[in-house]
Amino acid sequence: MPVQETATEVLLTHPANKDTSVSILKYGATVLSWKLNGEEQLWLSTAAKVDGSKPVRGGIPLVFPVFGKNEHDELLSKLPQHGLARNSTWEFLGQVKDSPPTVQFGLNEKLANPELHALWKERFNLILTVELGDDFLKTAIEVENPSTARELQFNWLFHTYLRIPDIDGTMVSNLVGTKMYDSLLKETMVDKHPVVTFHEEFDSVYQNVAPDRVVQVVNQGKPLHTVKRVNLPDTVVWNPWVEKAAGMADFEPKTGYKQMVCIEPGHVHELVHLAPGEKWAAAQILSKDALNYQAI
Ligand code: BG6
Repeated sequence: MPVQETATEVLLTHPANKDTSVSILKYGATVLSWKLNGEEQLWLSTAAKVDGSKPVRGGIPLVFPVFGKNEHDELLSKLPQHGLARNSTWEFLGQVKDSPPTVQFGLNEKLANPELHALWKERFNLILTVELGDDFLKTAIEVENPSTARELQFNWLFHTYLRIPDIDGTMVSNLVGTKMYDSLLKETMVDKHPVVTFHEEFDSVYQNVAPDRVVQVVNQGKPLHTVKRVNLPDTVVWNPWVEKAAGMADFEPKTGYKQMVCIEPGHVHELVHLAPGEKWAAAQILSKDALNYQAI
């Protein structure tokens, strides 16, 4: 059975390869696991809550309508960090394609977590499409503004936790020359490093990354993950390192920061402005491609 649904999760198995699968929690429409030929590609904390009591620590949480904490926007500033999509239970809309197996989930203001929606009373329709290829995982989002009068303003981001064997010896390529906001230093600069490497906490928003730049995670010279973006200009790179990991109750094992790096394609540097009745669409495609240094 390529698609199995339980009360809380949806599991897709590739019809040509039973060892390639994806599981999605209805809470947050959070991808929990993506296995390619039996090998897990995502990092999930062993203490992650999957009971709907808080957003999932790991996998692919969905960030909408605000990235981080917005201090300026009158409406968005009332919402908690990363918004309301990752802490709302989405509706499973069913399978929309057999090959590759593809399913959809929906969220709108009626389904959203009522306590959070009370803080940001906008109308919206979200459709998440998850497509399990034989060698890729595509997550696509469509945002519709159903209002006939009001513009919808939002951020979108796929908060992807990628699994790696060791943060030592891991680098992230193809971001050189890009303007980045270092969230720890609170400074904007152009990253001149040929590749991103990790020696301490890292938390930066790479802005307006050229659409054809394909971000790759490389360990000991071996390309592990390729992240392609559709209509997502920004990419956040995050590793919490020792102290931040220690401070997160749901981050386990505490040494788990060595086995993960977040590469988060999004539209976060600026808000998307969506006119009444309009739709906006974007996607992330994860795969394991050959090394492709586009810029050093
Ligand atoms: C990243 C942010 O996207 O998410 C970090 O850049 C943040 O600043 C991290 O710490 C995790 O956020 P949260 O809300 O899931 O703990």
